[in-house]
Amino acid sequence: GAIIGTGIFVLTGIAAATQAGPAVILSFIVAGIACAFAALAYAELASAVGGCGSAYGYSYVAFGEIVAWLIGWDLILEYGVACVAVAIGWSGYFNNLLKLAGLDLPDWATHAPGGPEGGIANIPAAIIVLLVTIILVIGIKESARATGIIVCLKLAVILFFIAVGAPAVSPDNWSPFMPNGFTGVTAAAATVFFAYIGFDAVTTTAEEARNPQRDLPIGIMTSLGICTILYVSVAAVLTGLVPYNHIDIHAPVAEALSLVGYKWGAAVVAIGAVAGITSVLVVMMLGQIRVFFAISRDGLLGPWLSVVHPRFGTPHHATILTGIAVAIMAALVPIGTAADMTNIGTFFAFTLVCIGLIVLRYTRPQLNRPFKTPLMPWIPLLGALSCLGLMWQLPSLTWHRFVWWTIAGIIIYGLYGMRHSKLAGHTPQTHS
Ligand code: ALA
Repeated sequence: GAIIGTGIFVLTGIAAATQAGPAVILSFIVAGIACAFAALAYAELASAVGGCGSAYGYSYVAFGEIVAWLIGWDLILEYGVACVAVAIGWSGYFNNLLKLAGLDLPDWATHAPGGPEGGIANIPAAIIVLLVTIILVIGIKESARATGIIVCLKLAVILFFIAVGAPAVSPDNWSPFMPNGFTGVTAAAATVFFAYIGFDAVTTTAEEARNPQRDLPIGIMTSLGICTILYVSVAAVLTGLVPYNHIDIHAPVAEALSLVGYKWGAAVVAIGAVAGITSVLVVMMLGQIRVFFAISRDGLLGPWLSVVHPRFGTPHHATILTGIAVAIMAALVPIGTAADMTNIGTFFAFTLVCIGLIVLRYTRPQLNRPFKTPLMPWIPLLGALSCLGLMWQLPSLTWHRFVWWTIAGIIIYGLYGMRHSKLAGHTPQTHS
């Protein structure tokens, strides 16, 4: 439910059109392999440390406060900024759907400023975020049944695209296969990595697994495997339908069907994408809110962030803060920028998780590990190296922003977290 969304429905088009060409197919394989290594590391930590809900939780228990804070600060990029990219992706398909119905919203109202479209603000992206925020403040139960229905819908739409699109593929479009060489492939891998984010959510269910040693790796590897197959197939059909430099970058999967004459098919895909991406937005917003909640409960951010609404029983402050910040950014930031920032933060968090796993094997050998990552220390080493390698492919501007983000995090920790931390024996109240 958290995985299939803007990454496959939108970023595939951007990565093919601007980076890898048809070889975006390979980019999905490269990104999938990096995720598989990191996923095995996640599985061990999740099963050993318990269901605290996120890498922040595992690292707090396992490595102490400072590393946890750094990972938590990065998770704000992984979940919070991901919401921005997800909402913009949603807007692309929503606008496409309106266009198919003959209702064309003006460009200034549907694009971030600074792009060739002459946008002022992406208003639909901001509106969907605010709507989801309201729902989350009132309270939503994550039900396996509702998630199951949405997942089936998403899978059906993707399979539909493959089935309808495949016969219309023209193999000439796959040539040249690698217009920008292998550099283009790895740069695109660093972009489409976004499509896999969310698999780490599987590890948060470690405590509920009947047999974690067997079930966790099966759950993680199966979802990664299925996604890789789906993504590679969608990328192959998409780049086979349209010459790579003509692929639409807002709603590529629907537009590709439209271009080869299947207007009704485009509508089916757009409806599925809008519904499917909404579910990713809900899960990612919940992820961000949980991270805020957990960090605040440990005293590293203001206690007001973990206040629970007296009637709704939801952490409404964290929810409203997340909602407003994400809505503003979704209106004003281009999707590529948001996706790159998400990815760099996630690569860094994954790298720390992989390294932390090795350290923990030495520092806490007795820890009960219901699931043990195989082939130690090679799997987490390869995970850290592949994440760092892909991180390296991201544009220098993204790196600059990330360095500033990290410095800001360290300053906030020094000025606030260190003094209010519960681990250090303080409580937020005594210092407020
Ligand atoms: N993997 C999620 C998506 O692609 C974040 O939308």
